[in-house]
Amino acid sequence: MTGKLIAVANMKGGVGKTTTVVMLAEALSADGARVLVVDLDPQASVSVSLAGDALLAELIATGRTLEAYLALKLVARAKPLLAPRIRADVSVTLHQNAPLALSLLPAGPYLRLVEREIIYGLTARGHTMHAIDAKLQRIFDDEFVPLTRSYDYVLFDCAPGISPVVEAAIRGSDLVLVTSIPDHLSTYGLDAFVQTIWAPHSEGAPNRRVPVRLPHVLVTRFQQQVRQHQRTLARLQAEADGDGASFRLLSTRIPQAVALAEALLPREAPVTFTGKYGMHATSILIPLIAEVKGIFDGT
Ligand SMILES: Nc1ncnc2c1ncn2[C@@H]1O[C@H](COP(=O)(O)OP(=O)(O)OP(=O)(O)O)[C@@H](O)[C@H]1O
Ligand SMILES: [Mg+2]
Repeated sequence: MTGKLIAVANMKGGVGKTTTVVMLAEALSADGARVLVVDLDPQASVSVSLAGDALLAELIATGRTLEAYLALKLVARAKPLLAPRIRADVSVTLHQNAPLALSLLPAGPYLRLVEREIIYGLTARGHTMHAIDAKLQRIFDDEFVPLTRSYDYVLFDCAPGISPVVEAAIRGSDLVLVTSIPDHLSTYGLDAFVQTIWAPHSEGAPNRRVPVRLPHVLVTRFQQQVRQHQRTLARLQAEADGDGASFRLLSTRIPQAVALAEALLPREAPVTFTGKYGMHATSILIPLIAEVKGIFDGT
């Protein structure tokens, strides 16, 4: 069996994407899986969260980041390698007396500039935006898909706003988890996001890939007692159950909780997996990874 590529994405910001990546990465790895987290966001939240400030600063300074790879590959037109930029054993979270086996391909704030340089440079050399998208998709296929031989799960923490690099990850992944807070504003752009990526090929881009599965929406920061949350959740469920639904809805919901808000804090001192998540380790994370695995089993 080869590993699975999972993109955690939403056009919307602040809806729990990075928190979900960290929770999933730690829960899958506590379950014995080999997990790689890839940061596709110039905010570098998941990189800071997993590596901590000092190590991330060192990795950025020594070019061991995604943006350094992309800058060499697409701006300088060199032949960089991706694998040496993956940092093994970044986690300080302990499980059964050993750190979780978690690897990270970090990003730093210069990713935003590198993405702009790629687009300016390639358009100046006569590439259309569709050609640039196709080039990024090829890089994804050549560099990330083979990582499924070494990892059971590769999790992509996507930037809000959907850059061309993020779009390549969404189109090329085995599963796209769309995190959303169940309120009016957070779900407002959901249909547009789903339609633009999952719509069959448009005329201008006949070869654009449609993701292999419908997006799976994961409700985050859920507050059972908030009426707007109950109503929005009921609407999402009705849409997901309807004929011709454009997304599926996971039945695990991530509650609003202090322990989960703190999941992203970089830890200087080791903490245990169960100490970090408390009761959520069994009530939320175990059902969540069972549901995610079930998607691949077809159950
Ligand atoms: N289940 C939760 N309970 C409480 N707070 C949460 C929960 N999930 C996320 N948060 C908090 O919400 C904020 C946004 O979360 P997060 O950074 O995961 O979102 P994001 O979608 O990755 O944001 P961005 O679009 O900026 O990348 C953070 O302050 C985080 O601690
Ligand atoms: Mg984030």
